[in-house]
Amino acid sequence: MNMIQLNNLERSYKTPAGQTWVLRRINLEIREGEFITIMGPSGAGKSSLLNVLALLDDVWEGEYWFREEAVHAMKRKQRSELAKRNIGMVFQLLLADEPTGNLHSSQAKEIMELFQELNQQGTTIIQVTHSDTNAAYGSRTIQLRDGWMVSDTANPEFQPYEAVKQ
Ligand SMILES: Nc1ncnc2c1ncn2[C@@H]1O[C@H](COP(=O)(O)OP(=O)(O)OP(=O)(O)O)[C@@H](O)[C@H]1O
Ligand SMILES: [Mg+2]
Repeated sequence: MNMIQLNNLERSYKTPAGQTWVLRRINLEIREGEFITIMGPSGAGKSSLLNVLALLDDVWEGEYWFREEAVHAMKRKQRSELAKRNIGMVFQLLLADEPTGNLHSSQAKEIMELFQELNQQGTTIIQVTHSDTNAAYGSRTIQLRDGWMVSDTANPEFQPYEAVKQ
């Protein structure tokens, strides 16, 4: 079953210069237990996408299904209840925006090893990073450019839980 499904999700900001689009027709399916990396240049929409996924943002268009629940049909209160139950910074569903941004590489490695361990215990992880080293810990990498999802690539080196368990 999909944990998360986005159908034609779009996000724009109203600025004095007019409307700017930061997420364009995003279609994304995330299964339970995946370890996903979101990459792309500055301004590509990575943090915007993570905020939508984390149920922090509600000013978007399109469909967002979280398990069987239609997030797009929810009021703010229902959405924050869903987030409380399911989205964690450490212990549940884990979403991380450049978690190792300002760290020494040995500390970054420790964090990535912690993520790896949590993922092997069944936690679904979505991280934003500019680092190929960090991305290499994940099962799948999504690339954004100017709000468009331009690629979605599986990591052939990834060790899934089933393989690690033995
Ligand atoms: N509150 C806001 N109001 C107006 N525009 C915004 C707002 N937040 C983000 N943007 C714009 O949306 C676009 C995407 O921003 P976002 O923060 O998602 O990019 P990012 O990929 O996380 O970049 P970075 O690598 O620099 O963190 C940028 O053009 C940014 O200027
Ligand atoms: Mg960002």
